[in-house]
Amino acid sequence: MMTEIQEIEIQKQYMQKVAKLIENKDLKYTILTMGCQLNENDSEKICGMLEEMGYRKTEDIEDANLAVFNTCCVRENAEERLFGKIGNLKNLKEKNNLIIAVGGCMMQEQHILDKIKKSFSYIDIIFGTHTLHKLPEDLYKVLEDQKKIKDVIDIDGNVYEDLPIKRNSKTQGSVTIMYGCNNFCSYCIVPYVRGRERSRKPKDIINEVKELASQGYKEIMLLGQNVNSYLRSEMEAIQQGKLKDEAGDYKEINSFAKLLRAINQIEGIERIRFVSPHPKDFTDDVIEAIADCGKVCKCIHLPLQSGSTNMLKVMNRKYTKEQYLNLVEKMKTKIPNIKFTTDIIVGFAGETEEDFEDTLDVVKKVGYEQVFMFIYSRRVGTPGDKMPNQIPEEIKHKRFDRLKDLVESQIAKTNKSYLGTAQKVLVEGPSKNNEKMLTGRTESNKVVVFEGDKDLINSIIDVEIIEDHMWYFKGKVL
Ligand code: 5AD
Ligand code: SF4
Repeated sequence: MMTEIQEIEIQKQYMQKVAKLIENKDLKYTILTMGCQLNENDSEKICGMLEEMGYRKTEDIEDANLAVFNTCCVRENAEERLFGKIGNLKNLKEKNNLIIAVGGCMMQEQHILDKIKKSFSYIDIIFGTHTLHKLPEDLYKVLEDQKKIKDVIDIDGNVYEDLPIKRNSKTQGSVTIMYGCNNFCSYCIVPYVRGRERSRKPKDIINEVKELASQGYKEIMLLGQNVNSYLRSEMEAIQQGKLKDEAGDYKEINSFAKLLRAINQIEGIERIRFVSPHPKDFTDDVIEAIADCGKVCKCIHLPLQSGSTNMLKVMNRKYTKEQYLNLVEKMKTKIPNIKFTTDIIVGFAGETEEDFEDTLDVVKKVGYEQVFMFIYSRRVGTPGDKMPNQIPEEIKHKRFDRLKDLVESQIAKTNKSYLGTAQKVLVEGPSKNNEKMLTGRTESNKVVVFEGDKDLINSIIDVEIIEDHMWYFKGKVL
């Protein structure tokens, strides 16, 4: 069997072959990314590969020779959105000979593949979550042999290193540390489309972070569906006598806590964040690492999903309301000035008014900096979709609005407490809405807009907060 390294070598050869084929043709690609930061990071790799082959990026689909869609299926009617967009491309395809590649999570769902076969047979490349690295080969076959390619596999993918990457930000570098999820929360499609957990080797992560530091990146965002079970599957396998040849790779770093400590020592990196941890895996060693590591931002994303112990059980989250609140209390005691953000789902199957009030209660007690709120959306193939007691849309929306009101009133209050304070802000660049202003983020991930010299970009500076708005602050450089 081929090793991952050999597979990537082959793809590098395909990159060269494509580069030769399209040489001097000035071909352009456009990419649409749906979904989470992991998908964004995958898209950075897709862009990296395409640019290595000589494609240039364009935002204008009319001008593109290749359109890539990196899809998500976690929520909502992303399907309709995607199919609408692809439907619109049929004319362009005929006019410009546009190549269309569609990949990512949605392609791991059979009903989507069936629909594509039936209605969108003109798509050239379909790739899944485990075959993204084979885009050069797929593209070559389309360009050279005019073939249609479907490259989706169902087994858990391997971990591939050393793909080219074209990053979106020059300040914050995203680093995926693990793929997949073992948790099977009953509402969630991710374990079905991303497979079981597998972690990258510590040395590969450390090397990537060092490389980012040497390029001037100040902030690292560690990514995974469940970051605080980093290396857990691998350690279990080693305990069972498996993975013998790899045991040496984990001598120094064998857990998420140790990974944080190691990254904290990398010179040049000034901030470390991570998403998403799971409350059930928030072990003491992780809490201690956060407390000890000066660079780890003291603002933790701690997905709640529901505040009701009943609902948490139905959701298969493996913690109770009390355990969640105790964890928050423990972290508040051990980590001075710690702040929290969270994800909440409203209207999951069987949610009563009482259950919903428990969610409001936790929101009041914790006082989050930011809450990402979602209306439950049924996902084909998950246990949640089969539950008989679904909540009517109208009730879901009413509850969502009540939660939103509470969250916004809390955030407004919290924001007021920032007024007049000095905040350490990592400056990202010119503000999108006003080129003359700069924008950056506080340690608690709040956006601050202020006047300042462009030289300040990519440094951490002191800014006084002088105006508060719901989603950003105005500041003054100190
Ligand atoms: N419906 C609504 N929200 C969902 N999430 C995951 N699955 C669903 C679903 N079926 C939310 C969870 C998760 C976030 C990334 O998306 O809150 O933490
Ligand atoms: Fe989905 Fe739960 Fe896994 Fe998060 S932990 S990806 S919500 S199954």
